[in-house]
Amino acid sequence: MKQEDSHSNLSNLSTAKALGFDAVSYPIPPHANSLWYSLGGLTLGLIVWAIVTGIILSQYYAPQSDLAWDSVFAISADIPWLSIVRGVHYWSATLAVALVIVHLARVVWTLALRYPRGINFIVGLLLLGVLINLYFTGTVLKWDQEGYEALQHFKAVNDLLGPLTYPVSEELTLTNEMLQRVVTWHISILPLILLFLLGLHLFYIRHHGISTPPELEGKPQPKVPFYTHAIKLGGLSLLSLGVLIILGTYFPPVLLNRAVEGIEATKPPLPFLVFYQLENWMGAMGILVGSAIMVVFLLAFLAVANLPSLKEELRIKLTRLLLVVGLLLWLFFTVWGALSPPASHLGM
Ligand code: HEM
Repeated sequence: MKQEDSHSNLSNLSTAKALGFDAVSYPIPPHANSLWYSLGGLTLGLIVWAIVTGIILSQYYAPQSDLAWDSVFAISADIPWLSIVRGVHYWSATLAVALVIVHLARVVWTLALRYPRGINFIVGLLLLGVLINLYFTGTVLKWDQEGYEALQHFKAVNDLLGPLTYPVSEELTLTNEMLQRVVTWHISILPLILLFLLGLHLFYIRHHGISTPPELEGKPQPKVPFYTHAIKLGGLSLLSLGVLIILGTYFPPVLLNRAVEGIEATKPPLPFLVFYQLENWMGAMGILVGSAIMVVFLLAFLAVANLPSLKEELRIKLTRLLLVVGLLLWLFFTVWGALSPPASHLGM
């Protein structure tokens, strides 16, 4: 009997090993399980919901400029469950952008961007860029007034940047209309880059181990197995799906009128409102100037947090101060943009 027990224990063990359970049992500190340190994982969960719903939507969406708006209208109005899928897609993307900004703020506040994690901060910045571009291209896909105007802004910024942007310009090809190319970026090129960068980001998190916040440094910490964190994230991500379904049902994403060419009457979607006031001052150049200021801030976080000449305490204070200034400026310009009346910036 005893021998049978130990035999079944052994075979259970090897089954667990074969399924890879021991690979997710590595120890992590308990603070890694807090909500503050779960924001990246929750963003990942939202990205999964965006991908699943995006695959379903792609079966109904028509990528030609004379059909695109009608297909989104049909998705939103003709089939109730499909309109909820669209709502979940929109809200998962919107909340992923919002959460990733809070995740970034957590990383900077806890000085998790110090050596050796600076490389993962840079991978994170690239992820942020891809996520924003997915949001932008998704907006264009609707091909309503907002989507059409978003593409005109993209073209205006490209014109300012000159030959550098030839590969993404209208001049590249005569055989494919611009909307069809934006669809390709949205459903294949950008998701592939996103998945590659996500893999790299997760690899570095595992490679470096989760950082210890300055307040806990040097203190002994008990450990918990990683799967407790994974189970918590899985549960929260399922819960987030419930929230997304409620948001998608009761606050469906808008679809404005079919695009009318040559007019500028809408304001940009939420993540881009931060540039609106700058555009009021200097047209499309405002988007470039605003983006450049953001990049300078993001790289300044990295530089200040890693300055070897500063005393540890001063380095922490300066990094956090810079973060608060950056966030306040971003919030101020976003609210200002939201409150500003619609204006023409491209002279159409
Ligand atoms: C698609 C977007 C992103 C996803 C899904 C993601 C996911 C994650 C996850 C799951 C973690 C583990 C700890 C945690 O959740 O806080 C993490 C850590 C980290 N992330 Fe992200 N992240 C994203 C974007 C970013 C961005 C925009 C940055 C900064 C520019 C960034 C920088 C970092 C760094 C430095 C760590 C290590 C933190 C530590 O050791 O404490 N990530 N990320």
